[in-house]
Amino acid sequence: MSARRIAVGVTGASGAIYAVRTIAALLAEGCALELVFSDYGKRLMLDELGKDSKVERLTDLLVEKYGDDVRRGSFVVHSNKDLGATLASGSHRCESMVIVPCSMKTLAGVAHGLSQSLIERAADVMLKEQRRLVLVPRETPLSLPDLRNMVVCAESGAMILPAMPAFYQMPQTIDDLASFLAGKILNALGFEQQLFPAWKGGA
Ligand SMILES: Cc1cc2nc3c(=O)[nH]c(=O)nc-3n(C[C@H](O)[C@H](O)[C@H](O)COP(=O)(O)O)c2cc1C
Repeated sequence: MSARRIAVGVTGASGAIYAVRTIAALLAEGCALELVFSDYGKRLMLDELGKDSKVERLTDLLVEKYGDDVRRGSFVVHSNKDLGATLASGSHRCESMVIVPCSMKTLAGVAHGLSQSLIERAADVMLKEQRRLVLVPRETPLSLPDLRNMVVCAESGAMILPAMPAFYQMPQTIDDLASFLAGKILNALGFEQQLFPAWKGGA
């Protein structure tokens, strides 16, 4: 069986840890990932995860943080400026995409079909081909344009999955919070995941 091919866009909203946790979890599932980092996405990796968190050493970073399981999958990194990359075409068989975290700027670009970067174009391809697109916005408070842009994206077929970790799992660490969100993203992409246990009900 061939690996599931999934695109991951990483933009300049706070929450780089959500991006690396999600990428690591998808790699551990054996996926073939197509990664695109915006300039501010790269900057937030350094600002929030430390100066060694360069995209150029992503494999080392992921193995250090999450172990050798990440080697089950594979990834390529595309330039966000390359509108001629595979992801820019609906003929490329990339089944789904998540933008995590998703800035309000990129959200606006997706809502209005601007396709000014590869991340925006690849998201537009997902919408026009009616494939799964998961947007993980992170901002607070939200302006009326932000709210309206989310509605437009949802009406166009995207899933809005806000970066809102829950606390009913009794998280002990920041990694627990990131794992919860990554687990929600994997569920949205159709994976059974073990990043957090499903709620069992009860008082
Ligand atoms: C440290 C830092 C934190 C930021 N956090 C957010 C955020 O949480 N949400 C957001 O929408 N924009 C945030 N921004 C602003 C975006 O990075 C900015 O709008 C940028 O143009 C987004 O471009 P991109 O979508 O191409 O990455 C932040 C910027 C910086 C420098």
